[in-house]
Amino acid sequence: MGDNRTPRDPQLPTHWFNILHDRPQYVTSAVSRSRLAGRLEAAGEGALLQQPLSLARQSINTADRFIPIPDEVLDLYAQYRPTPLRRAVRLEERLGANARIYYKYEGANLTGSHKLNTALAQAYYYARAGVKRIVTGTAAGQWGTALAYACQIMNLGCTVFMVRSTLHQKPIRGEMMRLFGAVVHESPSELTEVGRRVLKEDPGATGTQAVANGEALEVAGEDGQSRFAVGSGENSVLLHQTVIGQEAISQLALLDEFPDCVIACMGAGSNFGGIALPLLAAADDSRRPIRLVAVESTACPKLTRGRYLYDLSDALGNTPITKVYSLGSTYVPPPVYAGGLRHHSAGPLASAMHADGSLEAMAIDQLTSFRAEGILPAPESAHAVAGMMDVVSRHPRGAAPLVVLVNISGHGLLDLGAYSRFAAGEIEPVTPDEARLSQSLSALEEFNQAIAEAAEAT
Ligand SMILES: Cc1ncc(COP(=O)(O)O)c(C=O)c1O
Repeated sequence: MGDNRTPRDPQLPTHWFNILHDRPQYVTSAVSRSRLAGRLEAAGEGALLQQPLSLARQSINTADRFIPIPDEVLDLYAQYRPTPLRRAVRLEERLGANARIYYKYEGANLTGSHKLNTALAQAYYYARAGVKRIVTGTAAGQWGTALAYACQIMNLGCTVFMVRSTLHQKPIRGEMMRLFGAVVHESPSELTEVGRRVLKEDPGATGTQAVANGEALEVAGEDGQSRFAVGSGENSVLLHQTVIGQEAISQLALLDEFPDCVIACMGAGSNFGGIALPLLAAADDSRRPIRLVAVESTACPKLTRGRYLYDLSDALGNTPITKVYSLGSTYVPPPVYAGGLRHHSAGPLASAMHADGSLEAMAIDQLTSFRAEGILPAPESAHAVAGMMDVVSRHPRGAAPLVVLVNISGHGLLDLGAYSRFAAGEIEPVTPDEARLSQSLSALEEFNQAIAEAAEAT
């Protein structure tokens, strides 16, 4: 009998790339809750975030530049990786671009996006730690789908709180998660204290990632065998995504290419980090300049309009209080189709990169993103395509052609409702509700004032 595992392609990375080794300054510390005890109503206990040690260590490891991918996870990666890297020749022609445009395509796995790269890793670590169920919040549904599938493979239960506006836009995402055995709830729900609080204030609330995460944390905390897991933002999640950038480097090397510019959309940063971090290190190693562009939605402009302050990433107040670019955890973005770009803050690592000038941020409206053509990207990825078209159009005609690498984080096949609304001319440009945005930013500033006062008093 032969080995029944999928043969591993030699280009499949065997390790994750850890930027914290090269740039330990990106390990940001969380505000100590014991110092804040009793002083900050918005800050919960924080005790519910119990990660397996192996996973928690990955977020603070500065010792190892490369971290081995467990064999079982590698076998699962081998079923869909390496993902394709292609040159967008027809788009180059259509744009008349003075550029060579390459795209990495993360949409060609069963669940439809890059989220599977970390879902498989996290489900593996939680299963090994003896956990029985993972509970999570999902915005666009891509993370929820990926986690539901990974849990099924690892024999774990899975409960997903999905943001109401996106579940209504694409109910089929919920069906897919159920197909993989997950229990799916619309968020905000009546099942949790957080959900009930939000619904009491606004029965028609469209939901946010922060509320969905808050509900998931509450439910996970009620059962000793369940744990909360998160699909983006944390350093360990960005680490798992670095298979994308590492593959892109070796695929481009076969073509004798290295990008001048890397572009990806930004939810909380795992998709961006996954492609950009290995390329940043490769550029540093070879002393080449590189431009890293993170494209966010104008509906949720945390990098371009947010503050770099301490914030939470859930509405219950239990996630670590870290320094991030944020619009405030109470900010409710308008319900755009790119639900995965609605997170109110970037993760700590992407935020630190923005603060030190390592990344450039750009906000794109959903209407502009739907005008981008080529393959059928997820609405989130369409923001990166539109951002890329903007970068390319500004590149001077007489200069050497710009080599651009863009990450297409997922497919848009379950977003056909949005595409047909676009074709019918029904997609509107979306801007934040300015009054709600400034209210949320003020609350964020007050929260930071209270942190500073608590720190002074201890
Ligand atoms: C297809 C797709 N692309 C990008 C993102 C944003 O991801 P990240 O938080 O990793 O930046 C999401 C998030 O849900 C997504 O579903």
